[in-house]
Amino acid sequence: MMIAVLLLLTVKSAGTVSAARSVTFENPDLCAIKGSSVTFRCVYNYTAGETVRTTGWYKGRLENGVWKRVELSVDLLSYRHRYEYLGDQQHNCSLKVHELQVNDTGYYYFHFGTDTIGMRSKTSVHLTVSEMRATVQPERVRAGEKVTLECVTSCQLGSTLWFKDGHPMTKTLLWAQAEDTGKYSCTVKGYESVQSHPAALDVQYSPLNVSAEVSQAGLLSVGSNVNLTCNSAANPEADSYTWYSSSSRLQVASGRVLSLPSLEVSHSGVYLCQAGNSLGESNSTAVLLEVEETKIDRVILLFGIGVKVVLMLFLTLIIIWVRKGWCNPAGDSKMDSNDYENMTM
Ligand SMILES: *[C@@H]1O[C@H](CO)[C@@H](O)[C@H](O)[C@H]1NC(C)=O
Ligand SMILES: *[C@@H]1O[C@H](CO)[C@@H](O)[C@H](O)[C@H]1NC(C)=O
Ligand SMILES: *[C@@H]1O[C@H](CO)[C@@H](O)[C@H](O)[C@H]1NC(C)=O
Ligand SMILES: *[C@@H]1O[C@H](CO)[C@@H](O)[C@H](O)[C@H]1NC(C)=O
Ligand SMILES: *[C@@H]1O[C@H](CO)[C@@H](O)[C@H](O)[C@H]1NC(C)=O
Repeated sequence: MMIAVLLLLTVKSAGTVSAARSVTFENPDLCAIKGSSVTFRCVYNYTAGETVRTTGWYKGRLENGVWKRVELSVDLLSYRHRYEYLGDQQHNCSLKVHELQVNDTGYYYFHFGTDTIGMRSKTSVHLTVSEMRATVQPERVRAGEKVTLECVTSCQLGSTLWFKDGHPMTKTLLWAQAEDTGKYSCTVKGYESVQSHPAALDVQYSPLNVSAEVSQAGLLSVGSNVNLTCNSAANPEADSYTWYSSSSRLQVASGRVLSLPSLEVSHSGVYLCQAGNSLGESNSTAVLLEVEETKIDRVILLFGIGVKVVLMLFLTLIIIWVRKGWCNPAGDSKMDSNDYENMTM
């Protein structure tokens, strides 16, 4: 029995030694990005005249401290639907594995059997599956400060491509600007469909694009109400607001909304707001508020003036009349009494 086994082993090793039998990998050490696919390019050879009966790909797996070769199609359920044999029963033994996972890292072997002898490749392909990780340093900056983006992967694959909020980046980020706040992910050229987990960048800045918005456009009429709202882009959001007005009667106010509930002509003027956060403050451009009396107001005013004029005239007349009526008869009676006195004397 022992002799038989030994004999068999000798026969087998004699077989593998034969230069005619070989499995050759184009690239025996591969590195690929998680989620992408990889192709093990492979050719095999055997003695002319032999017929290939079986082919199979195996993965080395450590089981209870012992390395075993487990056939992908049979034992490794996780490879089902993910591996694709591109080879044939002649000389091509290429294999493609899709949707790579980090635990696909390992040694792969090709095995074929002919009508005379079975063989597995002594050589193997080593695959490293690496996750891609984007890093942003520092994660929170002030506008104008330096930022470093880095795409970390253990594979040396090619040039790195960057995405901001899912869109390819057109500029290189170095000095942070207000609009650079977002999520950054990277990929390697040729692997565009696979992107790293995103890294967030938070750019803080004092208020920008400050504007004063008037709730009503155009001329405003006396008595109506209007709200002026101070809008701005800021990170963190603006939390202090100051209103300035050229109209002397209006006090400088605070708060995002300046409410003018009952407009007067004196409210007319130029207004601007200042928005501020912990990083600074800036002013809006000025807006013009024009308050005008309405036609009805004018009619009432004119009517009022008219009434006043009429009243004044009337009063003057009365005064004149009263004076006349008071003085003259009195004078006359005096005169009369004098006359009478004179007459009686
Ligand atoms: C395959 O083996 C045959 C002999 O069996 C040899 O002539 C041929 O060159 C080999 N091909 C390769 C690619 O090694
Ligand atoms: C490999 O990892 C995936 C998830 O990432 C898991 O579903 C699968 O079972 C793992 N396979 C093995 C052989 O551990
Ligand atoms: C400020 O306004 C400009 C022009 O409208 C715009 O391009 C920019 O994105 C704005 N900035 C912020 C931080 O919203
Ligand atoms: C102004 O705001 C106040 C309360 O904030 C609201 O009652 C009023 O209707 C607003 N006026 C206009 C013209 O939007
Ligand atoms: C904003 O305008 C006010 C009033 O005109 C002025 O006193 C202040 O200095 C201005 N602030 C800035 C930041 O320009």
